[in-house]
Amino acid sequence: MVAGKNILLGVSGGIAVYKACALTSKLTQQGANVKVIMTESAAKFVPPLTFQALSRNPVYTDTFDEKDPAKIAHIDLADWADIVLIAPATANIIGKVSNGIADDMLSTTMLATQADVYIAPAMNVHMYAHPAVMKNMKQLEEWGYHFIEPGDGYLACGYVGKGRLEEPESIIKAVKNHQYDNKLFSGKKVLISAGPTREQIDPVRFFTNRSSGKMGIALAEAAAKFGAEVTLVAGPTELEVSNKRINRINVTTAEEMYDEMHKFFPSSNIVIKAAAVADYRPKQVYDQKMKKQDGDWNVEMVRTKDILQSLGEKKTNQFLAGFAAETTNPIEYGMKKLENKNLDAIVINNVSTEGAGFGEDTNIVTYVNKNQQLDEVALAGKRDVAEKIMKFIDRDMKDDK
Ligand code: CTP
Repeated sequence: MVAGKNILLGVSGGIAVYKACALTSKLTQQGANVKVIMTESAAKFVPPLTFQALSRNPVYTDTFDEKDPAKIAHIDLADWADIVLIAPATANIIGKVSNGIADDMLSTTMLATQADVYIAPAMNVHMYAHPAVMKNMKQLEEWGYHFIEPGDGYLACGYVGKGRLEEPESIIKAVKNHQYDNKLFSGKKVLISAGPTREQIDPVRFFTNRSSGKMGIALAEAAAKFGAEVTLVAGPTELEVSNKRINRINVTTAEEMYDEMHKFFPSSNIVIKAAAVADYRPKQVYDQKMKKQDGDWNVEMVRTKDILQSLGEKKTNQFLAGFAAETTNPIEYGMKKLENKNLDAIVINNVSTEGAGFGEDTNIVTYVNKNQQLDEVALAGKRDVAEKIMKFIDRDMKDDK
């Protein structure tokens, strides 16, 4: 996965620079073309000549040291790279890139590149935990940069904790895994519904449910991360989508969700209905606020359309997955929905279990495919659960071929 790739290694100044030597050597041995940019402080720890010998390429340290008059080095390097890897990444380079500062060769090239960027931080445990560093890393993550988390252990500054540059082998493995995952759904169109629906009764009142939209949004983010073109049809939720490539369509009612899902369904390859759709809506919707009267108020409710069922009836080549929110006999009820709605898979969650279900940041699910193969996903963050679900879908789609 790295053989034949152009890898631009950014080395910033910290004691872990020595590990970047081993990293350069291993990448070169695995057939990658490696070019190195060092910051001025990195060159104080290890001389550029070491990286030149290991990479068999000139090392760049100065934006104005133009080695070839026909080219502008930082633009040329930025365009040349398939992958940019910063290891070790200090708090300083992370801060510069996240704030658009370009005052040396490495930070300038970082602004110019369109390649996949991996950042392997290394710093003191307190520096790593500082809100400024955390905020900068979060910003970069939102822009699509990938972090290779530092390990725990003895740090050169004498502290023991998180901040140690990950080992070269692990950095290469993380890059390879990510490069593989990145393309899992490339060329595929994924349609996802998320959140609750809201069924109005008058201008100030409505019926809804406890769905937060977190699971559906996590699925949309996972699909986009794995290279899919994603459309997210979201019911009312305050939650933001961090991946700006996701096409988000906001809806309020089950009827609106039905229309949007059917609009995008024919051109989609994978459709996942994670939304908690209202099964009933008030028969009458009042234009004005209802005034209270003596006695009770009985609201007559009528059935909404089952969106998933209708998609199952229309299905041609799409991989169609639904969710089942259950409080009793989850597997039995979930498997019935899989069959009745003509699905390829169903994700069953027992919403009465602690750590699973509405509003939580975590989930516990059972993924069941149409061959009745069960995969349990133990308690984990919704993001991790979403990535696992996407990988089960990828496996099942490949098995179907
Ligand atoms: N669903 C849908 N349209 C509806 C109701 C449900 O598309 N009107 C979808 C949900 O998005 C979910 C799946 O059907 O993917 C199962 O939803 P769930 O609420 O668990 O079950 P229901 O089908 O509504 O059945 P029941 O209320 O009997 O449990």
